[in-house]
Amino acid sequence: MQTIIGTDIALAQQYLEKGEVVAIPTETVYGLAGNAFDTAAVLKIFKVKNRPFFDPLILHTDSVARIATFVTHIPDAAYALFEAFSPGPLTLLLPRKQIVPDIVTSGLENVAVRIPRHTLTLDLLRGCDFPLAAPSANPFGYISPTTAEHVAAQLGEKIPMILDGGACTVGVESTIVSFEGDTVRVHRLGGLAVEDLEKVVGEVSLQLNKSSNPDAPGQLKSHYAPRKQLVLTDTPTAAILRMYPYAVPDAIGYIGFRERLPDLPFQNQIILSKTGNFEEAAKCLFGAMRQLDAQENIKVIVAEKLPDVFLGRAINDRLSRAAAQ
Ligand code: TXA
Ligand code: MG
Repeated sequence: MQTIIGTDIALAQQYLEKGEVVAIPTETVYGLAGNAFDTAAVLKIFKVKNRPFFDPLILHTDSVARIATFVTHIPDAAYALFEAFSPGPLTLLLPRKQIVPDIVTSGLENVAVRIPRHTLTLDLLRGCDFPLAAPSANPFGYISPTTAEHVAAQLGEKIPMILDGGACTVGVESTIVSFEGDTVRVHRLGGLAVEDLEKVVGEVSLQLNKSSNPDAPGQLKSHYAPRKQLVLTDTPTAAILRMYPYAVPDAIGYIGFRERLPDLPFQNQIILSKTGNFEEAAKCLFGAMRQLDAQENIKVIVAEKLPDVFLGRAINDRLSRAAAQ
């Protein structure tokens, strides 16, 4: 199949109405979207991604008013979070209505909903009379795409169209939150920092699954992995010294937060943010992993752990999952 890459949202809408899947830009990562109410279209998403059915999908839509038509209840804390951060990198788990197909939620009672912050995709969502089910547009287990080119490299030819919205501005997936009584839980660290959530709803609890868990299967340990071995460390220089008996410097790639290392070749190193800015680092992270994964001389990637605050936490989470492979 010849894949169209462009900005024609009317065409994207036509494909979606026909039950096709289309890659869409969001502020976090690109999604692989289909009509959430069309079971055959949702099946196509799983097939193209090679994704297991026990891993549920997020519903994307353009307004809280529409979300209210998919869920039975929106707690006050959820309204407060929508008000503060949507459109934005935030996904809420809310009790679903029966109109949401089982295949979208993997049979779970909650459905994940989010309003992405991207003009093209918001325009597309406004035009469609159905929500879009969309996981990240990568083959299952691989790094999420943050440009149309990343999507084309991996899923091109399997899908009719990639809506090209440029490079994602946030660069890591949305933060996933649930509600139970007065407890607000974070299930996936993401593009909205826990510290920012807490400014609105007070202290939250973390339930980050470290291994396969049928309640939030996207938390599989080896998610977001490059194909090469990745080592995550607080002390990169020492980690690299320990590798020298086995690997020449030319075979070692490096992802650092602020500064290059003196001992490795310049072209093997990617710095996420010279000024130590977490937003900039998040935006560059997946592209950096891809670039070093594709660079042939590199056999192993060393990544420097960031300070565990704000988006540093989500970045460390993705790096540690990549390292767990
Ligand atoms: O930023 C994002 O959230 C991106 C963009 C495209 O919106 N999407 C994304 O989707 O990361 P995905 O499928 O790669 O990860 C979504 C994860 C699932 O793997 C699962 O862990 C969790 O969201 N999830 C979805 N529905 C759920 C549900 N009903 N209950 C619990 N967890 C759910
Ligand atoms: Mg994903």
